[in-house]
Amino acid sequence: MVITIKNEAEIAAMRRAGRVVADILEILEASIRPGMKTSELNDIAERELAARGARSSFKGYHGYPASLCVSINDQVVHGIPGTRTIESGDIVSLDFGAIVDDYNGDAALTVAVGEVGLQAKRLIQTTTEALSAGIAAARAGGRLGDISAAIQRHAESRGFGVVREYTGHGIGRAMHEEPLVPNFGHAGEGLQLKPGMTLALEPMLTAGDWRTRLGADGWVVTTADHSLAAHFEHTIAITNGKAEVLTAREPKTAAEESAL
Ligand code: MF3
Ligand code: CO
Repeated sequence: MVITIKNEAEIAAMRRAGRVVADILEILEASIRPGMKTSELNDIAERELAARGARSSFKGYHGYPASLCVSINDQVVHGIPGTRTIESGDIVSLDFGAIVDDYNGDAALTVAVGEVGLQAKRLIQTTTEALSAGIAAARAGGRLGDISAAIQRHAESRGFGVVREYTGHGIGRAMHEEPLVPNFGHAGEGLQLKPGMTLALEPMLTAGDWRTRLGADGWVVTTADHSLAAHFEHTIAITNGKAEVLTAREPKTAAEESAL
């Protein structure tokens, strides 16, 4: 396995890429409305990337045709933006990556549009908490399995399924680097974490069974039982203390929040 340890200049580039990803995801979240086509979100993402002089991590990746993944309800990941209209009551997962100065940032979140059911709310809340649990477990000297186990424990303690067929990953010059970061596993096992490792953690949780199916377009992944799915992702750097979240949002003042 080739696990790259990034130096300070590389982490700084990843911080810039991560900030672009966080800012654009924030704009997308604020823009999402019932009646909107998913392609409109991709258009916004591409315009905002260009405005920042950044490139898409996704477009052209193994032939992927867009800069954003938009996955709705039972869609887990890799929904291709198109003519589908977002409706009130949908839960919409947005996954987005940007390249700045040759380094990648990758993050995702799930948004509730309009009034969604209690189960959908709990699923979204638990998935973001599972990501936080994974980040808290990402410590130099610890093991990759500590992250995986923390995510799995939190998800399953709330009765949700953890997708097995897709995982988090190392990230840097390439969007996908070694190692794989599964969302299930055993604490104390696997690769030892070291300062300068950069990882994308991305729990994908289901309200029902964790098994998935690949759609006819060869991209979109749905739950096999059509239960709801949620997805949150951050790019992080292992440090000597708490992991640094490279795709964290800039703290906003109340005035800036209300202007969004
Ligand atoms: N962001 C996804 C991941 O976390 C990758 C999207 S696949 C692509 O690995 F084809 F759209 F790029
Ligand atoms: Co990713």
